[in-house]
Amino acid sequence: MPSKYTGNSLGFIEWKGEKGVYSSPESRRLDWNRSSHSRNIRWLDHAATRVRAQDRDPAILEFMRLTNYDFDFSIYVKSLNSITNVARLSSSDFAMVFTSGITPFVSQLASGPTEKFIKNFGPRVHHIAFQTEEIDATVEALKQDEMKFLLDLVGSPEEGLKQIFSLPSKNTLLVLEYIHRYGDFDGFFTKSNVTSLTAATAKQ
Ligand SMILES: [Fe+2]
Repeated sequence: MPSKYTGNSLGFIEWKGEKGVYSSPESRRLDWNRSSHSRNIRWLDHAATRVRAQDRDPAILEFMRLTNYDFDFSIYVKSLNSITNVARLSSSDFAMVFTSGITPFVSQLASGPTEKFIKNFGPRVHHIAFQTEEIDATVEALKQDEMKFLLDLVGSPEEGLKQIFSLPSKNTLLVLEYIHRYGDFDGFFTKSNVTSLTAATAKQ
């Protein structure tokens, strides 16, 4: 059942055949002509769910109870009035991210972007992030494909990551994030990115 804290359902799968193969004997290949830059877009790095401040702990504990994920760390961002909480198996695995306001929603004027987002759209996944190779060229190619972004590509190798966020999809409301990590950086944004991220979130 969807979680009352996050709206997310969890799926559990045991592969009886080859791991990761979804096709059945009746399946046939689609004749899709995928662009070459789409090959640079790889695995799901993280999914960021927005939860109410008062549901932050129950949401994380529920997820940990239903999986073997561990709580990893939290990041307080005063300027965004938000707390980003990370659950994962190891720093190289998919991360489940829970973001909430530091305090519950008060008003459109007083509350931060996370609580306002939840007020408008309910608790839900805000974005899914894909590990992206050749991220500069790939983002340029996506722009050529008329994909629209909330902000420019931000970050640098020195800071440990580069990232960019799409506009929310008209069909799913989901934002797509393209992220490239350098070295063993395991965060989700850098200090210098927070200002532009705040501005970008305000557009929603
Ligand atoms: Fe993210």
